[in-house]
Amino acid sequence: MERLYVLDTTLRDGEQIPGAKLTAPEKLEIARQLAVLGVDVIEAGFPASSPGDFEAVQMIAREIRHTGITALARAVREDIDAVWDAIREAEYPQIHIVLGVSDIHLEGKFRRSREEILAMGVEAVRYAKQFTPYVQYSTEDAGRADLNYLKQTVEAVIKAGATVVNIPDTTGYCDPEEFGHIIHVLKTEVPNIDQALLSVHCHNDLGMATANTLAAVKNGARRVEVTINGLGERAGNTALEEVVMAIRVKPEFYQVTTNIRTEEIARTSRLVSSLTGIWVQPNKAIVGSNAFAHSSGIHQDGVLKNRQTYEIIDPRWVGITESRMVLTARSGRHAVRARLRELGRELDDARFEQFHRQFLDLADRKKEVYDEDLLALLAEEERAPQRQGYELTSLEVTLGSQRNPSARVGLRLPDGREAEAEATGSGPVDAAYRAIDSLISRESRLLEFSLQSVTEGIDAQARVSVRLEIDGEVFVGRGVDSDIVLSGVKAYLDAWNRALFRREVASYQQVP
Ligand code: KIV
Ligand code: ZN
Repeated sequence: MERLYVLDTTLRDGEQIPGAKLTAPEKLEIARQLAVLGVDVIEAGFPASSPGDFEAVQMIAREIRHTGITALARAVREDIDAVWDAIREAEYPQIHIVLGVSDIHLEGKFRRSREEILAMGVEAVRYAKQFTPYVQYSTEDAGRADLNYLKQTVEAVIKAGATVVNIPDTTGYCDPEEFGHIIHVLKTEVPNIDQALLSVHCHNDLGMATANTLAAVKNGARRVEVTINGLGERAGNTALEEVVMAIRVKPEFYQVTTNIRTEEIARTSRLVSSLTGIWVQPNKAIVGSNAFAHSSGIHQDGVLKNRQTYEIIDPRWVGITESRMVLTARSGRHAVRARLRELGRELDDARFEQFHRQFLDLADRKKEVYDEDLLALLAEEERAPQRQGYELTSLEVTLGSQRNPSARVGLRLPDGREAEAEATGSGPVDAAYRAIDSLISRESRLLEFSLQSVTEGIDAQARVSVRLEIDGEVFVGRGVDSDIVLSGVKAYLDAWNRALFRREVASYQQVP
């Protein structure tokens, strides 16, 4: 078996999703779990895009050991300098340079000739090599590029010193046969290809990212760029869990093996979903809540007789155990802390004390507290604004079948003043949002409101996610509470606070 290396780009490509912006401590927490999961390289961000992203990459590079750390740069010195400054303290630093290779990108985006772009790429690799021997070059939009020019580019950047050449299907355009063919041609026709690791990076616009990635592996790619839960631009990137489990289920077919500790997959998926607020669809392969649920009678009967009749993966391989640990108000500090540890969340003493108070409050209202509740509570606590933002001081709603729902909301404003307003609406949440709008008095448009219950049962916590457009930009806000209206209000204020503490993020697709 040959080794297949895994680069995780959840913190860079995954984080490019509108509204999925993470704080530096949130990114660090995900990076720690990715290291436990066993990824070979973590792509931690795009340092030139904003001071906040630079800081997050630097924190990750300083702390994470035994795992490669990379970050993205466009093919210009300023970006490469920013990457190096952010990752220089990593144990295994690697600079990632991206530059377009398709004519559509060259003509539309850069307005430069093939020769000029090739020279720019080679010069960028040479510049990066003075900092570290490990330089990755990504040929953006390779899926739609002229194959001869792609071959020429790959050969030239390897000659200039690139140690990893990454072939992205940036727009998710290819099908598995086409993409496999590109990799086959590069593997067999580029004379110096053995001097670099051949990597692939696929997007899911046509739902083929996993299939394309696996086709590339069959044709000789030995590194895959993936994200947890398939997060990423537009329809997302190749999902780590899908590629890794396909290989675990059929190792003889793929003839490769990864270093991923598959039992950490479910935990990592839950962490990413709770910190980004992007929930996983129930029927998502491997990590969806229905991925191992058998509902039809015939299937249930078959599984009870022999699991393998309808199951190709033992749920324990991805860390899903059947026993559900339930905590109550009487569980005691030790049990709560131990459970958090098992869920991969280690809190220092001060933070644990604060968390424990919230746990008791929830356990009083909800009697039985499940893992999902603990994670939702933690995510809620992490979302509390670090600086002073909008804070809910009071909420009263009145409703009944014979009257319009109304809400009275009290807020502490960012300048410390307290204010109160009342409004009516089509429902209690609408009324509360109208009251908040009158206090904030800034234009906004609610694009989406979604509500999910964290666990089953009438006393379950409600998790609300809103997408709010403020000054032309979309912010996602999340809130959890056992009261539906309160969780809606928390989500709304979370979106407003994210807009308030917004960090400017430039896209690597902008021409420098
Ligand atoms: O999709 C893409 O081309 C990218 C590159 C930066 C690898 O994300
Ligand atoms: Zn991408």
